[in-house]
Amino acid sequence: MREAKVLKFPISEKIFHNLNLISWIVLIITGALIYFKALSDEAAALAMDIHIVAAVVSTANFFGFAIINYDRFILLLKNLTHWDKDTLAWFKNLGGYPRKLFGINFGPKEVAPQGRFNGGQKILYPIFIVMIFALIISGWLLYALTPALGKQFTVFLFYFHVWGSIVITALVIFGHAPLAVINFSDFKAMFSSGEGYVPLEETKQSSPKWLENDLVKIEEDATDKHCRIKE
Ligand code: HEM
Repeated sequence: MREAKVLKFPISEKIFHNLNLISWIVLIITGALIYFKALSDEAAALAMDIHIVAAVVSTANFFGFAIINYDRFILLLKNLTHWDKDTLAWFKNLGGYPRKLFGINFGPKEVAPQGRFNGGQKILYPIFIVMIFALIISGWLLYALTPALGKQFTVFLFYFHVWGSIVITALVIFGHAPLAVINFSDFKAMFSSGEGYVPLEETKQSSPKWLENDLVKIEEDATDKHCRIKE
């Protein structure tokens, strides 16, 4: 019997996320090698060329997703910015992660029912999205318009660009990526080929309000044991 599952990541979102991830890795490695002066002049020039190519990919991916998949982009922003009392209640026990991961009795045992995203994700992902946008804009300003920006603003923009990307990378490495691996069904759905489905049973646990308010059955077999559900 095939299990009931929920479409969590349509292909458009997976392309957006994973192209962003790949270009991010190239950008952070080349950027760090240049900033921390780990290369000869020749190698640094090559690293800068690679940095610019990755920036083109990252920029096209970000605006491509926002424009071509306008509906999904707006839905993503809507799901991330909709807060209610259960979103706030998530912070009382941080989604139960301190208890689950480290045995720390922090806050109530029950996790408040969440929607598509939990309280932590509603803080982190908007920061990521705003920062991707801000790093794209600051990067292209530094690349193309330095003479027109004035010295002080250029220096400010440069440090924002460098340290902004370092802080976001630290949040990804120490927060986002480990939590994504722990929630292994999400991880598999995000990085496997094709549309990203997760088991319905897990969605009942992690996002009951999403299931209740936003999801609809799109396919079902005669016995109702197998169904596909999407937003
Ligand atoms: C090894 C690195 C990474 C892994 C394993 C990873 C994994 C994931 C997974 C599994 C999700 C889905 C979570 C959910 O919707 O419940 C997700 C969402 C997200 N990730 Fe990542 N990610 C990585 C790197 C990044 C980077 C570098 C950024 C941006 C700086 C990023 C930004 C986002 C955003 C904005 C979302 C929410 C929107 C969406 O679902 O596409 N991620 N990530």
